[in-house]
Order: sequence, then structure tokens, then C-alpha cells
Amino acid sequence: MKDKIAPSMMCCNFLAMGEQLATFEKNAIELLHIDVMDGSFVPNFALGTDFVKQLKRATSIPLDIHLMVECPERHLDSFIFGEGDYVSIHYETTKHPQRVLSAIRARGAKALLAITPTTPVEVATDLLDDIDGLLVMTVNPGFAGQKMIPHSIDKIARARAFLDSHGRADAEIEVDGNVSIPNAIRMKGAGANIFVLGTASLFGTAPLEENIKKFREEVGLGM
Ligand code: DX5
Ligand code: ZN
Repeated sequence: MKDKIAPSMMCCNFLAMGEQLATFEKNAIELLHIDVMDGSFVPNFALGTDFVKQLKRATSIPLDIHLMVECPERHLDSFIFGEGDYVSIHYETTKHPQRVLSAIRARGAKALLAITPTTPVEVATDLLDDIDGLLVMTVNPGFAGQKMIPHSIDKIARARAFLDSHGRADAEIEVDGNVSIPNAIRMKGAGANIFVLGTASLFGTAPLEENIKKFREEVGLGM
């Protein structure tokens, strides 16, 4: 399965977005991670429908829309996405996850089930035919710049074993939260293949391009 990196767009410098997008394109970034927060499921607000619309127009890099919103079924139609994009919804936010995941796939996108640090991987048992992967939150969702919840590495390994043993070795595992280089090495070792890069590894002091290259090299992702 291909390793992918997904810059967390909420961590971008909004005043230099065009320049940053050009750097992502030049460096063959696989996905753009978009945190949508509703101030209810998570105690923060972030990116929304108009931002997604603008990004879609501005770049051909596929989007990775992470819906941290209550009742995502009410909002899917407000977002532009389709073939090649990824959309994740949280198990904790809807009474009918199967319906929402199917609706995402019906639009040609990959559907991921996101789980917070306290939701066990087994909640995906009856959704195995409806997902293209799991998004394992490695911090409590809501804010950039947090520390990884220590059980995360073990949880990623359990998620990988769970998917493999249920005939879904093809299903992807995305990790989100404090994906620093040392953490990512362990996350990859445990079976993750999509890495959301925020303040822990990408948006720091060094230029973006330097950080992208360093991450790929040190985590062993290749190009
Ligand atoms: C959580 C967000 C954050 C963030 C990732 O909901 O997705 O995890 O953007 O970046 P850092 O590296 O700051 O944890
Ligand atoms: Zn996210």
C-alpha cells in the first residue's frame, strides 16, 4: 500500500496559501488534510465548505476531508468532493455510520471511519464492507500541537491486525495528531500508511520543502 503524506491545512500560513500549495505540488504531496470542526463534537472551529471549494479550484491534489462534526449526514452535500478524494467521518458522531459511509462512496470518494483515542477499533466490525480505511486519532481531536496519547502505537497495531484478520489487508490506516518524525517511525512500524502532518513535523521553523524531504527520508517513505 502506498505511503501518503497529508499536510494539515489548518496549520498552514493562510496569508501564504498559494505559495504553500505550489510547494506541495512541486513535492508530489499525495493529499491535503482538511479539518472541519463544528464547535460541538470538538471544542474548536475550523475549515469549512467555502475553503474546500476554493482549494478544489486551486489545486489538483486530492482532498482528505476530516469531518469532526455532529451528524455528518446533514452536511455531506455542502462539500465538494469526488473521485480520488478521501472523506472521513467519526464513528462517535452519527447513529447511522453505514449510511454516511455509503453516501461518500457513492460520490466516488474513499470513505474512512475515524475513531477518537477512546473508541475501540472493533466498532468497525460491521462496517468492514463500507470503508476504505480507518483514521486513528492519536490525540483528542480539536487542536493542533498536542502530545500523542501513549496507547496510540499499540492501537494502530491492533487496527492493522484487525483489518488484516478480517480480509481487509487493503484497507488504509491514517494517523492524525502529533505525527512527529520519531512518532511516525513507530506509527509506520505499527501499520499506518497515511500521515497527517501538522505542527509536529511540517509547519515549524524550517522551510516546508526541507521538512517534507526530511520527513520522507527519516520515516522511510520514499517518493
Ligand atoms: C486534530 C488535527 C491536528 C493537527 C495535526 O484534529 O488534525 O491533529 O492538525 O497537527 P499536529 O502535528 O499539530 O498535532
Ligand atoms: Zn484531522
